[in-house]
Amino acid sequence: MILRVLPLHVAAATALFASSAYAVEPPEEGEVFREVAQSDEAALTQESIKLMSDMVEKNHNGATRMRAFHAKAHGCIHGTFTPDKNRPKKTRFGTFESTTAFPVWARFSNSSGAVHSDGDADVLGIALKFIGVTGVHLWPGAAEKSNQDFIFFSSPSIPTKDARQYVESLKVLDGKESPLHFAFKDLVLPIVAAKGSLHGGLIVDPAEAQYWSASPYKLAKNAVKYSVRPCDGQKLQINIKTDKDALRARLVEHMNQKSGACYDFYVQFFTSETETPIEDFRKVWQPAKSPFVRVGRLTFPKQVFDTEKQNRFCENLSFSPWRSLATQRPLGSLNRMRRALYESISKVRHAANNNAPTPEPTSIEVE
Ligand code: HEM
Repeated sequence: MILRVLPLHVAAATALFASSAYAVEPPEEGEVFREVAQSDEAALTQESIKLMSDMVEKNHNGATRMRAFHAKAHGCIHGTFTPDKNRPKKTRFGTFESTTAFPVWARFSNSSGAVHSDGDADVLGIALKFIGVTGVHLWPGAAEKSNQDFIFFSSPSIPTKDARQYVESLKVLDGKESPLHFAFKDLVLPIVAAKGSLHGGLIVDPAEAQYWSASPYKLAKNAVKYSVRPCDGQKLQINIKTDKDALRARLVEHMNQKSGACYDFYVQFFTSETETPIEDFRKVWQPAKSPFVRVGRLTFPKQVFDTEKQNRFCENLSFSPWRSLATQRPLGSLNRMRRALYESISKVRHAANNNAPTPEPTSIEVE
């Protein structure tokens, strides 16, 4: 594919990250998993940055440059993560070591890079920001007490194995759509339908879907995948709407109810390279082989979130799997590629939006 001539701000951002592909760390003694580097990860990372910067230009909404993926937000809400008192010892590392609760911001989204009607099926995303996590952080310049992001979508895996396959699929798409759409019918629909949260092919309430990290993370000497799932008894009366912004309307309705929203936060542990591979993101880690272990609960109180000020704040927020403690570092070639990618794409869109602020919240106050 021939890349278009990049606008200046894009060229500047890609140049900035020219050498920042992430090298595989040497294994720590006692680690149960292994990462295996692809020979061309640095080049693939650069290519993904160019392709996605191009998508940001292509899909922009009037004057506003949006995210290359997950462009359409259904809203940002605030809540609290409370660690489970009975969580097993082997989960008590990094964020899950703390016995205190963390304030949290959550951004709900569609996965597409283009804004489309919620009547068209899409994979949904949820990005969580835990405020004030203490430890050794990976984010450049992060203090000892900094934020940690957890990023999920409503599918337990993605259709591409690794960084190379992913970049190839992006080239085929020529920046038009999310690669997840390729496999949506085959991969995602049966799983979500089995969970009973799908009606006529659509998720109708962002606060009632299950979400998966779909990619592995280190947890001290183990590796895990994450998932968040609505707490029992959370279902609203089914009220199916498929109009343009039905998901935002539904989230407003959900957050207007007295009980707000509630999720349980789970980890699944690496068991073997065959059942729970680190470098093949297509493979679902089956709960029969690696059961979900609850580490805590996310509660979002009743709240009004759909205001102009909060929506602007939500648009300007930036999430990355690499805004993380070192002991919970993202694993696998696709995650290594996401390090420079998320940071550069966020810079591209903020720069293009008249240097919009990138708030890194320190509380649940809208900054
Ligand atoms: C494997 C599991 C993945 C999950 C669960 C995931 C999920 C998400 C979510 C929820 C967002 C929106 C974050 C927000 O609300 O700001 C996002 C943004 C994004 N994702 Fe992914 N993603 C995954 C993999 C990838 C991969 C493999 C790539 C490309 C290599 C990618 C590229 C992006 C980009 C460029 C953005 C926009 C970042 C920004 O402008 O702030 N994602 N992703």
